[in-house]
Amino acid sequence: MKTTTSHRRISARTPKTSRISGNGNGRAPAKRPALAISSGIASWLAGPKQNLIGGKWVPAASHKTFDVFNPAEASVIAQVADGDKEDISRAVVAARRAFESGPWHRLTTSERGKLIWRIGDLILQHADELAEIESLDNGKPRAVARAADVPLAADLFHYMAGWATKIEGNTIPISVPYAAGARFHAFTLREPVGVIGQIIPWNFPLLMAAWKLGPALAAGNCVVLKPAEQTPLSALRLGELIIEAGVPEGVVNIVTGFGETAGAALAAHPDVDKIAFTGSTEVGKIIVRAAAGNLKKVSLELGGKSPNIVFKDAGDLDAAIAGAANAIFFNHGQCCCAGSRLMVERDIFDEVVNGVAEQAKKIKLGPGLSPDTEMGPLVSEEQLSRVTKYMHQGKQEGACYVTGGTRAGNRGYFVQPTVVKDVKPGMSIVREEIFGPVVVAEPFTKPEELIPRANQTEYGLAAGVWTRDIAKAHRIAAELRAGTVWINCYNVFDAALPFGGYKQSGWGREMGHEALELYTQTKAVVVGL
Ligand code: NAI
Ligand code: MG
Repeated sequence: MKTTTSHRRISARTPKTSRISGNGNGRAPAKRPALAISSGIASWLAGPKQNLIGGKWVPAASHKTFDVFNPAEASVIAQVADGDKEDISRAVVAARRAFESGPWHRLTTSERGKLIWRIGDLILQHADELAEIESLDNGKPRAVARAADVPLAADLFHYMAGWATKIEGNTIPISVPYAAGARFHAFTLREPVGVIGQIIPWNFPLLMAAWKLGPALAAGNCVVLKPAEQTPLSALRLGELIIEAGVPEGVVNIVTGFGETAGAALAAHPDVDKIAFTGSTEVGKIIVRAAAGNLKKVSLELGGKSPNIVFKDAGDLDAAIAGAANAIFFNHGQCCCAGSRLMVERDIFDEVVNGVAEQAKKIKLGPGLSPDTEMGPLVSEEQLSRVTKYMHQGKQEGACYVTGGTRAGNRGYFVQPTVVKDVKPGMSIVREEIFGPVVVAEPFTKPEELIPRANQTEYGLAAGVWTRDIAKAHRIAAELRAGTVWINCYNVFDAALPFGGYKQSGWGREMGHEALELYTQTKAVVVGL
């Protein structure tokens, strides 16, 4: 097979290996004892990684592949098909055929629900394996992937499986004033949208695939999924499990490839009825323009710059400090909802900021497979340079770094957990999404300036509020322009809880029954009696 390395993959290529090293010990992940990838995963990685089109694994039409990296080592761990416009076209044809004439729409909703449930079961049966793949590919600690990403993905399929039998229309009494005396029976049907294109990011690769696929399948659609080029592996393993579950061919198609090629082709494809996207706000706008060609429906889950507000009446300040650290450092800050603006009532500002900085200093950096790693590398060299560029800009703009502020070590894409204060509203680190473990802290005194400042962002994805004053908590939650508000907690997700953004953080809600709105359309039927 002909192999090319993409122009976007600028990392130093090191020999293919089934061993990585790890230390999980302190800031600079330098000398690490060797840490083995389990033999099952090593042999799975060495096998061909092709596209799933019409129920078959096939190479890219061009026969090109691209490299997949372990970000802890900047080393190549697999090669996957470099899907392009032609592969997207073939996948859309397969999805259209499955939607129009395949066995999918002849299944009862109960049978469909059971298939989706089985995907959730298979994810749990293969949880260790999926966690290892996710950790290797994305860099996150294996234990975190095992405790959070994988069970949440399974739970999403289990939750959505139940909806397959519960998507109902209404019967509607109608009056029709211009048809005196006529009688009608009117009702609505909620039907699938059709062929869905789904483009997902690299921060929670398996979980984002689940968020997208679960509701689309529950509602009876067929899908072409394009994973992020940085992290395609868990979606490919999920594709194998989807086949094993018995989902008919063509219902789920997976094309690995780059955003500017495969992603753009999917967003612009004239026979795709809807595109669902998670990623940067910048690309979200490109998706909207691309979708205009056939006016396909669009849902978007985009960036954030979420305020996390700590009042002096937070009660258990240790819990608030731990919560603020979790809000920014979970998943190495690579969360669209990261609590990246810490707003603290002035009386307790130093205590909280120093407390978060102390937590930051204790975080053990290391490769995801090392058991004592608490924070792995960033996902890619591109993200490393993006995050370190922001760290540098913040210093130039005069902010004070309480801790962190640079890359950690010189191997892999590690950065130091970073706490910044003495910031001004105009600074890039205050306004823009950094998508790394960097929090900017600012004090507030007057409640009347708090809300305008908290809402002073083009984003509106999430927010946190820490107070024991229940009336204040609810008042603030009502005034925050954000799709999720966490009170005395942060990063609480559930398959039943809708998630999505106000303002430029997105269109539509994923998870919960609201996700079904994205994947169904309503047909009104009127019968003259
Ligand atoms: P991105 O938005 O470029 O990539 C996300 C997905 O979109 C990937 O699957 C990519 O292949 C695809 N894509 C890229 N360009 C496309 C195009 N022209 N047409 C169709 N699909 C396209 O995000 P990237 O470059 O990986 O990260 C940049 C920044 O985006 C991050 O620093 C972060 O601020 C933000 N981001 C936000 C995420 C979220 O969860 N909301 C997830 C990932 C990134
Ligand atoms: Mg990009």
